[in-house]
Amino acid sequence: ALSPTGCPVSARAAAFDPFQPDYQQNPAASLRWARDEEPVFYSPELGYWVVTRYEDVKAVFRDNLLFSPCIALEKITPASDEVLAILKRYGFAMNRTMVNEDEPDHMARRRLLMDAFLPERLMSYEPAIRQLARQYMDRFIDQGRADLVAEMFYEIPLTIALHFLGVPDEGAEQLRQFAVAHTLNTWGRPTPEEQLTIAHNVGRFWQTAQSILDGMLAQPDGEGWMYESIRQHRLHPEVVTLSYLRSMMMAILAAAHETTSNATANAFMTLLTQRDSWEALCAQPALIPNAVEECLRVAGSIIAWRRQATRATQVGGVTIPQGGKLLLVQASANFDPSHFEDPDRVDLYRENAVEHLTFGYGAHQCMGKNIGRMQMRVFLEEFVRRLPHLRLVQPQSFDFLSNTSFRGPSALWVEWDPTLNPERQVP
Ligand code: HEM
Repeated sequence: ALSPTGCPVSARAAAFDPFQPDYQQNPAASLRWARDEEPVFYSPELGYWVVTRYEDVKAVFRDNLLFSPCIALEKITPASDEVLAILKRYGFAMNRTMVNEDEPDHMARRRLLMDAFLPERLMSYEPAIRQLARQYMDRFIDQGRADLVAEMFYEIPLTIALHFLGVPDEGAEQLRQFAVAHTLNTWGRPTPEEQLTIAHNVGRFWQTAQSILDGMLAQPDGEGWMYESIRQHRLHPEVVTLSYLRSMMMAILAAAHETTSNATANAFMTLLTQRDSWEALCAQPALIPNAVEECLRVAGSIIAWRRQATRATQVGGVTIPQGGKLLLVQASANFDPSHFEDPDRVDLYRENAVEHLTFGYGAHQCMGKNIGRMQMRVFLEEFVRRLPHLRLVQPQSFDFLSNTSFRGPSALWVEWDPTLNPERQVP
């Protein structure tokens, strides 16, 4: 097989399939061969050039003019006519949001919508996050056993996200089904039959998002980021367009909470699997902020992101034609030994842990990164204090949704002896 530039495709590049379980189970390990020997390769399965080394991934992120983010939310599995017809019936009109907008429109919009993400504004959320964490832990602390995803990590980031956005939280339960459909629709490889069911759910997700937005547009003086966006839309309709509001309303419902729920579950999965790290954290909670970064490095919740070359160029010495699509595998870049010493080790003291690429890099770097980090930090603080003797239920295998980009276990079972809870021993 040859790539579109006429280069031979190696056997391993031809075999690369991010929809097989290996990739989600351990994305960095599944691409070790590429980091070592073929850091930028063409994947015939995807029709994408896959970029696996730290410097290359960062360089592509950095240049958002040469490498446009316009394909970030494109369906990686092209829609059949039948799927398009279903979506059309729901009035589905997902278009540019923020993450897939080109310059100069992107920066003009980002600047107008930035204030709600300033650290001083975010600080006000910390007490609410901590209170929720305590309240959810109270429900299971005497049980001795819990699925942390179902009983805590899914719901709290959702509650916080809705609050941050200003969206009322009735109907939150349905959002879970919708978010799964959105992930599979955008980054998965469902079968033709599965695609039909998914299309209906995506259509319903779209309509739900639109009716939430319509309610907000009718009463635009509420509090929250979507209300601020509506007010900016009124002031600058050509920058914060109505099409943007409509697309963002759906995209952000998934982006603002799935990412954080998954990142939290990944962090606990990582630390409890490497039990010495967990114990070090319990002994020294001051390490928590850096542990959050190290967990985002070794087990981020966004493992790959997309860009498209706006003209012919080179990445890591490999020619990419104009229009060439790139899959930037952050989960691989985060294990690049030329940037992170002894990358397979979970090192809570790692000085450059924060340089991971899980939040992307450059002009589009995640706007919500400090909300995600804050939640992870507060959860860890509460657990090391109240449940330091927590253990993973063993044996336990983890399930992940098959897709290129979102990663987090569907369940995380832990157990402990309630009689050993520090609160019982030191009343
Ligand atoms: C963009 C990851 C949480 C809002 C992004 C991007 C990534 C990402 C990879 C694309 C960056 C790029 O293209 O360079 C994550 C992860 C999170 C998280 C791993 C949690 C651990 C959040 C939260 C919010 C949010 C909680 C909102 C409340 C956004 C927005 C953008 C974005 C608005 C678009 C920024 C732009 O294009 O200018 N995020 N995200 N994210 N994220 Fe997040």
